Amino acid sequence: MKKKTSKTIQGWIDLVLGLQWGDEGKGKIVDYLAANYDIVARFQGGPNAGHTLWHKGKKLVLHNLPSGILHNHVSNFIGPGCIVNPTTLLEEIKQVSEILGLSKEQLKDRIFISKNAFIIHPLHQHLDKAIECSKGTSSVGTTGKGIGPAYAAIKDRINFRFGDVLLNQKFFKSQEYTGFEDRVINQLAFYNEKYGYKMIVGPELYDQSLLFEHHMEELNQYVTFVDIFWLQNQLDEGKDVLAEGAQGTMLDNNFGCYPMVTSSNTIAGAAPIGLGVPMKYFGKTIGVAKWYTTKVGGGSFPSEIKDEHIQTLLQEAGQEVGATTGRKRKCGWLDIPQLLYALRINDVDELIVTKVDINPLHSVEIASCYCLEEQKIDSFPFDISEIHHVAFHHLDMKWKLPEDGSSILDTDLRLYLDYIRMRIEGNGLQTKLTMVSHGPNRDDIIRC
Ligand code: GDP
Ligand code: IMO
Ligand code: MG
Repeated sequence: MKKKTSKTIQGWIDLVLGLQWGDEGKGKIVDYLAANYDIVARFQGGPNAGHTLWHKGKKLVLHNLPSGILHNHVSNFIGPGCIVNPTTLLEEIKQVSEILGLSKEQLKDRIFISKNAFIIHPLHQHLDKAIECSKGTSSVGTTGKGIGPAYAAIKDRINFRFGDVLLNQKFFKSQEYTGFEDRVINQLAFYNEKYGYKMIVGPELYDQSLLFEHHMEELNQYVTFVDIFWLQNQLDEGKDVLAEGAQGTMLDNNFGCYPMVTSSNTIAGAAPIGLGVPMKYFGKTIGVAKWYTTKVGGGSFPSEIKDEHIQTLLQEAGQEVGATTGRKRKCGWLDIPQLLYALRINDVDELIVTKVDINPLHSVEIASCYCLEEQKIDSFPFDISEIHHVAFHHLDMKWKLPEDGSSILDTDLRLYLDYIRMRIEGNGLQTKLTMVSHGPNRDDIIRC
């Protein structure tokens, strides 16, 4: 564990990140680790995320809410770097209250939304779909949740924050204030002007806006006291924080496989900004990767499995279906150059490998290096189109979760993990492989 740098700091922040193309099992890992933290905080992304938790046989998929929500003692913070769809968030809160048997008021002590978090409006969803459509065959295959337009609206300085809505209501409620609707109309005019769109939005968008405004009002109870120093104050009081990344390293807006990426920064460097706290509070970084890879949406990836039979076997065994969109996730082999890239760019201290219980195969492969213009490299290139050939290392090994209760680490999996360790060490990285996850439930996890 990295040392805290100042005596005045009482609590610190550890970070959980996805190391691949998302859906590595971050939600399950955060739910497990949250037992040891006071606060779980999301710092980027929005309802494009789908983080799956299991509670007493019931499945819960979280989009906006942090994955510490099932713990009684954990406060869940939606940070300034997030974009939130109020309607989706309210649905999630409803689901959580049903699962836990707690009222929305009782959940008030668990949910804290930063006044600086931004909003995704139905208009953004509308635009997301229009932009995707205009890109035709080179579309990104977004989740359709309005992520790109909502982040773009922040940069264009036309989006609004939870605090803005709160403030507007406070000042203007008694004067038949129509500020919210005005802003929507302004945004629409802006887009039509900027992109030359002739976006004709029917009355349903205004109906949606009204509903949306009601939802914002309902959420105000979770926003009111959460100013920009809320998290820092908690840290100074000695609270420990687990920051939860959404998406994955290869979906980072700058450092992923651009342009087939999301619209936020997903790497470790995004956390201080997305939470609004200085660097000195940060402790260790925990990276999550499946023992294979998956990707959902447009674009290929280097280690994609071309053999349809194996592709289907793994997809079905791993139930690789998107938690947010229900789309099938394409499967690939573990990709060592990609993994090393992610470990390095995030400076990962601890690696957790998930889904090791899923292996319907008799032998496995690992993408061990790429060939670029006849040259072998084991680092990730500027653009994956530069890769001429991917060299796969064949490992004649199989494993499955023992039924007699003995450890999965007594199977060939141990050799597979040794190979990963060997490649990490061979690259001079300090990352330690610390745990494997062998099932979707919180406690299906062991140290190794
Ligand atoms: P996230 O977006 O990274 O939180 O991951 P998702 O929730 O989108 O997808 C991971 C899927 O794998 C979910 O259905 C989890 O319940 C499930 N899962 C997580 N870890 C494991 C594991 O170790 N084994 C199995 N079999 N399923 C897992
Ligand atoms: P979690 O947090 C997997 C993908 C989309 C698309 C691209 C851009 O559950 O791991 P966007 O809607 O963000 O503009 O889509 O990114 N994508 C994800 N893939 N897991 C996610 O989140 C994702 N969030 C976005 O499929 O290819
Ligand atoms: Mg997911």
